[in-house]
Amino acid sequence: MDKEKPQNESGRCPVGEMYEPFSAASTYDIFAQARVEEPVFYCAEIDYWVITKRKDIDDIFQDPESYSAQITLSPVTPFTDEVLATLKEGGFAAQPVQSNLDGEAHTRIRRSSKQLLNPTAFKKLEPDIRRIAQEFIDRFASKSEVDLVAELFYEFPAHILFLILGIPDSDVGKIKQWADNRLFLTFGQLAPAEQLKCAKDMVAYWHYTEALVAQRAVAPADDYPSHLLRLRNSDDSILTHNEIVSVVFGLLLAGHETTTNASANAFHTLLTHRKNWQMICADPELIPNAVHEALRFNSSVVCWRRKTTKAVDISGVSIPEGANLLLALGSANRDEDKFEQGHVFDVMREDANQNISFGYGKHFCVGAPLARLEMEVLLEEMTSRFPNMSLVEDQEIDIIRTIAFRGPKRLLVRLQG
Ligand code: HEM
Repeated sequence: MDKEKPQNESGRCPVGEMYEPFSAASTYDIFAQARVEEPVFYCAEIDYWVITKRKDIDDIFQDPESYSAQITLSPVTPFTDEVLATLKEGGFAAQPVQSNLDGEAHTRIRRSSKQLLNPTAFKKLEPDIRRIAQEFIDRFASKSEVDLVAELFYEFPAHILFLILGIPDSDVGKIKQWADNRLFLTFGQLAPAEQLKCAKDMVAYWHYTEALVAQRAVAPADDYPSHLLRLRNSDDSILTHNEIVSVVFGLLLAGHETTTNASANAFHTLLTHRKNWQMICADPELIPNAVHEALRFNSSVVCWRRKTTKAVDISGVSIPEGANLLLALGSANRDEDKFEQGHVFDVMREDANQNISFGYGKHFCVGAPLARLEMEVLLEEMTSRFPNMSLVEDQEIDIIRTIAFRGPKRLLVRLQG
């Protein structure tokens, strides 16, 4: 289908030309400019229409008939033929199950997951979450300088998720590597050789998940795959076996990469806005709101995706059926029409919990309460032990390069200031 190219009065699309979808360098500045000058713009580099206003994004999330979620996990850089062949020959058979599924099938699968992944169940995990956080922190507490990403944020959320999935801690390293690769394969800009390497890892990752579910079918345990198998009770109308493997495969990414990056962003933001850090050290009751505000100001999922199922008009821009939309959640989170002084970070902000970092509507993030709880515990433990902690000066903050996920690769801090 021919894509309609956008035109402004001068016949150009300045914001679209300046926007670098894989780079974090000027993302928030460009979004701010776009909200004023061109709230909906076309980015030719990736063939996506970028939507920057909160109201438009809310409307899109609330209208699944006109905006399909089927695109959320599609590769933004198309797979090479070699990659497609590797996945096929390797027996990779993940099917759309939740994030990238529409309609009744999505509702059925989401219902099954909510029975075990819900706020009450997550709250029961709090003692384990705190114990694991303390174990991690104890390991580096005597050092003067640490990279918090490497020593804490990278693995910590995976250990919590693995409690839920019944996966041994010894597999964390391997799965984190596979999940990183899947992230870049889906949301990044990899050269063909890198794509192929990641595709081979995806096959391994899929077979790992298949084996996990097969093992639980023989020897059920008190974990999420066993719960889904019990619920299915060999009835495909409830869940098929492949749907269960696909759900577990999906969680093995969604459940920790997001929180790793969100935690790193939160600490980075708080430490660069030192007064706010001092406020939560002095009054830990502010921490839950600080987490909302950190997610609003600098979330780990800066954009999410939808596809139009018919021709639509968004903020006066005509967009054809079948067009790709990049919903700039990071922009919506700073939209001045929703948040007064949206560019200001303030742990006291009263409506910080109105952020849209976990999406909205039918696909609202299932793990949101867990992610927030993990971040709260990390902040409680770190502020009480290292209130004088500071960022190592002059360090270069290198942000991962994808269209959706954002977070620093390293975050060097001095624990005692
Ligand atoms: C700070 C951390 C996290 C962020 C920023 C985040 C963000 C998101 C976003 C933006 C969506 C898409 C919502 C939509 O399409 O409307 C989503 C969906 C989802 N997330 Fe999260 N997430 C996080 C943590 C988690 C965790 C810890 C889990 C699992 C325990 C999880 C599981 C899911 C699932 C299963 C979906 C698909 C829901 C559906 O389509 O019905 N997420 N998340």
